[in-house]
Amino acid sequence: MSPVNEPPRPPGAGFAAWSRDRLALARRGAEECGDLWQLEPGVYVAATAEPCEAVLHRGRDFPKPPSPLFPPLKRPGAATTPEERAHAHAARMRGLRPQAVAARIGEIAADTARFVDQWPTGRDVEVLPPIRRALAETGVRYLFSEDTPALLPFASGLFEAREVLVRPTRWVWPRWVPTPARRFRTRRQAAFTDALRPVVRRRRSSGRLGDDVLGQMLRPSPRYGLLPERVILDTLPGITVATFETPSRAAGWVLLHLALYPRAADRIAAEAAALPAEAAATTSAHLERLPYTRAVVREVLRLHPPSWLLTRHAARRSQLAGYTIDAGSTVLVCPYTAHRDARQHPDPDRFQPERWLDDPGDPDDPGDPGSPASPGVFLSFGTGAHGCEGAALAMAMLTLLTAQTARRYHLSEPPGPQPGYQVTTYEGLTTAGLRLRATART
Ligand code: HEM
Repeated sequence: MSPVNEPPRPPGAGFAAWSRDRLALARRGAEECGDLWQLEPGVYVAATAEPCEAVLHRGRDFPKPPSPLFPPLKRPGAATTPEERAHAHAARMRGLRPQAVAARIGEIAADTARFVDQWPTGRDVEVLPPIRRALAETGVRYLFSEDTPALLPFASGLFEAREVLVRPTRWVWPRWVPTPARRFRTRRQAAFTDALRPVVRRRRSSGRLGDDVLGQMLRPSPRYGLLPERVILDTLPGITVATFETPSRAAGWVLLHLALYPRAADRIAAEAAALPAEAAATTSAHLERLPYTRAVVREVLRLHPPSWLLTRHAARRSQLAGYTIDAGSTVLVCPYTAHRDARQHPDPDRFQPERWLDDPGDPDDPGDPGSPASPGVFLSFGTGAHGCEGAALAMAMLTLLTAQTARRYHLSEPPGPQPGYQVTTYEGLTTAGLRLRATART
């Protein structure tokens, strides 16, 4: 059955144009068609704030498809039940909520400062690989504290598996086909799980559960009791990669903006002068005194949301933005174009951190982007039931990394007319190959 009152389709739209330049087509679709446009029959793009928010909040009409980057490893025993999933989610969130992050700012600051201290000065450096290594250490320590050395070597293996899996391929194989990429993923996931299992057992048998995210998952909950070991082992590979994968893409964009906007960098450096010389002594009170740095991070995430396209499926025929969407359709939610809508963000293509300063957000919540005047104004961390679990942690990492870098260095791009990086869109919006030069501030 074809949909009645179909969303418009911009001339020339289709998968071929999409695979040539996804950002350009997304922008053209939003400009020419408005709220909702058609990429191919049965594939729609929600382009502005209102339909984006509507899709993300209407989970029954538009559920998130299972995206098992790290699906449960095959083993005898029961599959995870919805109740176990809810229990695992609640336990993780105890460890990831803003108050929990606020209590561990010193550790996060010490890790990000190590990266800043080691940045070689006076030459162009490809920045994303070392940022990823540094944030992997930060993220793994946040989840597993003193067990970091046992798990960190396997975390980068998970990242490599993810990169291979999301690479566009000519054929989309059914989920059950064991392609080389999927077998590679399974090996990396099994290696991580084999390293995690003894940690889980040791903590449980010793009774020293730990105050980190793993510790929260090991504590019995009054409502659900004890979380089975297999659920912990199946959940944590995905969460582990999430702690550093998107944050390192975001950090690439933020550092690039320090190079592109030296006056903004100077203002951050002035603000960051009040941070303690000993990074481990940094507290959430120091972080609160970095409003401009925070505004810069938000503004970069608005302009370049690393998760720039979120996928949902229509579970039933429903109405969206005045159009009919048939059951079985795919709806792509596009924070990238929603963030460039002049109705919400005047002069939307301009980098203007000040726009966030009048709307400082919840001071107790480092992930709160402010109280938007209209819905959907900031979707970089998604929203609704599947909104980002790690927003507070990500904002803390990025704000500290940005402040510490600007306090210490001037950044610049290599000379030349062309940007020294490529914007890639498949694994997330990324400054692939970004090179920057750090010069010590005097
Ligand atoms: C700048 C950094 C980050 C950005 C831009 C980001 C963005 C997002 C977005 C847009 C979503 C929603 C996806 C959807 O609705 O389909 C999401 C979900 C998620 N994020 Fe993040 N994220 C970041 C950092 C983190 C960190 C540090 C963690 C650490 C735990 C994390 C864990 C998750 C998880 C577990 C989900 C899935 C939630 C669910 O499906 O219920 N993220 N993130």
